[in-house]
Amino acid sequence: MGFLDAGFVQGFIRMANDGWEQGWHERNGGNLSYRVRPEEVEEVRECLAPGEWQPVGISVPGLAGEYFLVTGSGKYFRNVILKPEDSLGMIELDGAGENYRIVWGLVSGGRPTSELPSHLMNHEVKKEVSGGTYRVIYHAHTTNVIALTFVLPLKDEVFTRELWEMATECPVVFPDGVGVVPWMVPGGREIAVATSRLMRQYDVAIWAHHGMFAAGEDFDLTFGLMHTVEKSAEILVKTLSMRPDKLQTITPENFRDLARDFHVTLPERFLY
Ligand code: 13P
Ligand code: ZN
Repeated sequence: MGFLDAGFVQGFIRMANDGWEQGWHERNGGNLSYRVRPEEVEEVRECLAPGEWQPVGISVPGLAGEYFLVTGSGKYFRNVILKPEDSLGMIELDGAGENYRIVWGLVSGGRPTSELPSHLMNHEVKKEVSGGTYRVIYHAHTTNVIALTFVLPLKDEVFTRELWEMATECPVVFPDGVGVVPWMVPGGREIAVATSRLMRQYDVAIWAHHGMFAAGEDFDLTFGLMHTVEKSAEILVKTLSMRPDKLQTITPENFRDLARDFHVTLPERFLY
C-alpha cells in the first residue's frame, strides 16, 4: 500500500487539519507526533528510505528503536492535507534513543518539529506510565487557554479547578487535572524536562503565554481532550468578560457527587 493510504497516516492528517480549522495553528504554530505501532511500520515498510542519523539533543532510551510520524519544523498545519509528504516526516530512533533518521517525507528538506525534545520526552513518560497505550502528543496554540495565562495564577490547582467549573463533563474528561509550565524558552531540553515531569501526572500541560500540550491513546481522544480544555477556557474567557465574579457555579460538593456517579477519582487538592 502507498504510505498515504495507511490508516495511521490518514488519522494523523485528519487531526492536523481539524486543528487548523479550529484556528489553533497560525503560520507554523503547533506540532503533532504519533508513536507508530510495529505492525503499522510493517504496513509501510516498502515506502521507507532511511536518511542520515542526526542527534535528537536529548536521550530517550525508553523509546529506542521506535518510529514516529511528526510534523516538520516551520511547516504549516493548513498545508498538511494538501502536501503531507512535504509537511510531515516519519523518523526512526536508534538503539540508544539519542539519534534519529528521517525514513519518509519532508521531501523538500527540513527537519522534524523544533519541539521534538518535548514530544519525545512526553512520549517516553506516557509510554512508561500507561504501560504503552499512549501514542499521541499534540501541541497547539489554543487562543483562550493562552489568554487565561495572563490573568489566572499559574498554578495547577487554579487552572484545573477553573476549567472543571466551566463545563460539567470536564472533570470526567480530564479527572487528573492540568499542569502549568511557567513561561520558558520553547524548543529546548529545559522546557521538555519541565513538561514531561507534569505529564507523569496529567494528560494536559499548559505553556504560559504560548499554548498547550495534550497526550492520549489515539487521535480522537487526544484531539477531543485539547478541544474540551480549550472550549472550557473559552467559556471562562466569556464569563470573565461579562463580570469578574460568578453568581453561581459547580461546588466542591457537586464535584464529589459527580465523581461518585461517573466513577472517576477527583484529587481532593483541586476541591478546595
Ligand atoms: P515548529 O514549526 O518547529 O513545529 O514550531 C512551532 C511551535 O509551535 C513551536 O512551539
Ligand atoms: Zn508552539
